[in-house]
Amino acid sequence: MAFDPSSEFNPAEAGVLGRYFTNLDRPVFALRNLPEVVKGALFSRYSRTEKSLRRVLLDEFINEPDSGFEALAQASGDGDDMVAVRRAEEFYERVLVGYGDDSVAELAGAGAGRHAVALAERLEWVTAIEPSEGMRAQIPPRDNMTVIASTWEDAEVAPADLVICCHVLYGIEDPVPFIAKLQASAREHVFIMLREGPVPHPATALRQRMDGGPGLPVPQFSDLFMLLMQMGIAPDVTFVRYPVVNRYQSLEEAVLDCRMLIGADWDEAKARTLLEDMLSAEGDDLVFDSGVALSGIAHWQPRPS
Ligand SMILES: C[S@@+](CC[C@H](N)C(=O)[O-])C[C@H]1O[C@@H](n2cnc3c(N)ncnc32)[C@H](O)[C@@H]1O
Repeated sequence: MAFDPSSEFNPAEAGVLGRYFTNLDRPVFALRNLPEVVKGALFSRYSRTEKSLRRVLLDEFINEPDSGFEALAQASGDGDDMVAVRRAEEFYERVLVGYGDDSVAELAGAGAGRHAVALAERLEWVTAIEPSEGMRAQIPPRDNMTVIASTWEDAEVAPADLVICCHVLYGIEDPVPFIAKLQASAREHVFIMLREGPVPHPATALRQRMDGGPGLPVPQFSDLFMLLMQMGIAPDVTFVRYPVVNRYQSLEEAVLDCRMLIGADWDEAKARTLLEDMLSAEGDDLVFDSGVALSGIAHWQPRPS
């Protein structure tokens, strides 16, 4: 790799780093020649610092004698490799534990950030993974929160103490690898929350009144529980009950919200008339009382692999 005088690295540093990055001067690059254990710890450290990823590797791993990085980098693939990895793991454990136990949480499908913000107030760090730009735009920024624009399936995430996924699995086509990744990413605990019962939304009542049909089947918590058992996971289960009141600023907003959920069976004229009847005025809002919703939370400690 030719030396660039405007680079943030001097020639000696560039010589070392060139082994581990496909380039040192562009924002898009790939990692190479790095064991998984180093990559995991590197991303974890990177999410807590202002430094560039390359600078973190140099300062906090390559130039840190305690990290065991030198041995790792020179390991030739024989038995010494394992000793080097173990030594590095011990170091990373010490580094990570230094940030506090149970302190790093990862949220798969953070939505508008209601759980992410609450967790950020209690924990040291939260990584919120959310594919929808509209949802991400609503997540209030926090100094100790990283927001990643990605689906959970595609996200490149370091392991976290707690991995949490609330009300996301309803639309996931292939839940087994999704759940397996949640489990593989959790050091201490996995939590998956899903509703049991109908969707608490005026569209549910509207559909019944429009055509009397049951609506699209939505995966339930009980389906998740059975699936987990088939995956060899016997989770603890906690149920939560909470009242749901849907609020709209106008009839238009309610119509739009219901139209999105009902899809092809939508009948505009009928829906408007029914919604006018179903919604009641409360101050400036139009509200619909969806009753008490029931959700289950499956939670378990992943077995060490
Ligand atoms: C019903 S919201 C729940 C949001 C949040 N967890 C909560 O409880 O408030 C579902 C969220 O999952 C996100 N989502 C959908 N598919 C996803 C995927 N494959 N990976 C991660 N998130 C996904 C959606 O963009 C949406 O924000």
